[in-house]
Amino acid sequence: MSLVIRDLEIRRHDGVPLLGPLDLDLAAGERLALVGESGSGKSLLVQAIFGLLPSGVHQTGGWVEAFDVRMDIPTPERAQIRSQRLAWIPQEPLAALNPLVRLQDHLTLLPRTLRMDPLASVPARMEQLLQRLGLPLDPAFLRRYPLEISGGQRQRVVLAMALSCNPELLILDEPTSALDPSLQEDFLKLLEGFRQERGLGWLWITHDLEVVAAMADRAMVLYGGHAVEAGPARPLLEQPGHPYTRRLREAHHGLPSTETGFLDAPDRRDAGCPFLPRCPHTRAACVPWLPWQGNPSEGIRCNLV
Ligand SMILES: Nc1ncnc2c1ncn2[C@@H]1O[C@H](COP(=O)(O)OP(=O)(O)O)[C@@H](O)[C@H]1O
Ligand SMILES: [Mg+2]
Repeated sequence: MSLVIRDLEIRRHDGVPLLGPLDLDLAAGERLALVGESGSGKSLLVQAIFGLLPSGVHQTGGWVEAFDVRMDIPTPERAQIRSQRLAWIPQEPLAALNPLVRLQDHLTLLPRTLRMDPLASVPARMEQLLQRLGLPLDPAFLRRYPLEISGGQRQRVVLAMALSCNPELLILDEPTSALDPSLQEDFLKLLEGFRQERGLGWLWITHDLEVVAAMADRAMVLYGGHAVEAGPARPLLEQPGHPYTRRLREAHHGLPSTETGFLDAPDRRDAGCPFLPRCPHTRAACVPWLPWQGNPSEGIRCNLV
């Protein structure tokens, strides 16, 4: 397994629950999409996978393992996993680029740190990668700073950095939301090409259901810090089991939603299903609500279906 998460629970410093308990399995080469609206806990999950939770929140239960190494405990093995087998593509490429560092130094730093390429210049392998990504190879371009290139080019530079160490698992946090629609499509094609060549797996965070359909074998829907539904992507999109997933799909097709309101603040959450305050199908069975039962790979459905 590339990634195994069990009973992961994250709380705010004052004890307010933000995420979980959450289980997740990702096999080598598998494509999993994580879907959920803003504030549902997607970024916290990514940060927990890398063992990089921000200040103000704590892991209060469970564990995270990537390639059989615990990621929520600092060890030398974890550092190796982070730099070589896992790679992160952030929503905003500037989060991964230092505005004061030239592109050529971004592109050589990691391979040099790992002693894969002792040369100070951009190595041949990286040049191939840049060419493939449609980035200019001329020295004048490589001497530029991140703010001197376009947003699409920045995202490609981040992708080149991420792919330079041959990772096995990519964690993509809404990687196309900062790109124009035409560039989004190119980005998806590029990634799918690399995946087929290298047998990459990924955890792809998105709220775009078309991206889920195109880029995922399985999907997990997160609401209020809980997985409300998970399973093979196509049936989940075509016949959603949970009322929240149905609502997402209706919103996607531009139909009026039957519910109104926003995701409840985490400290006002009911003990039942997190979607309860907005759900049109509420019954007694929704409280208490068990977010996950049985084998995670078999998926979960709403109690009502
Ligand atoms: N550093 C933090 N301190 C306190 N609360 C946080 C912190 N980071 C995230 N949260 C809260 O955790 C919840 C989930 O946040 P996040 O994972 O960023 O959501 P998403 O990425 O799905 O939009 C939100 O309610 C957010 O306000
Ligand atoms: Mg986020």
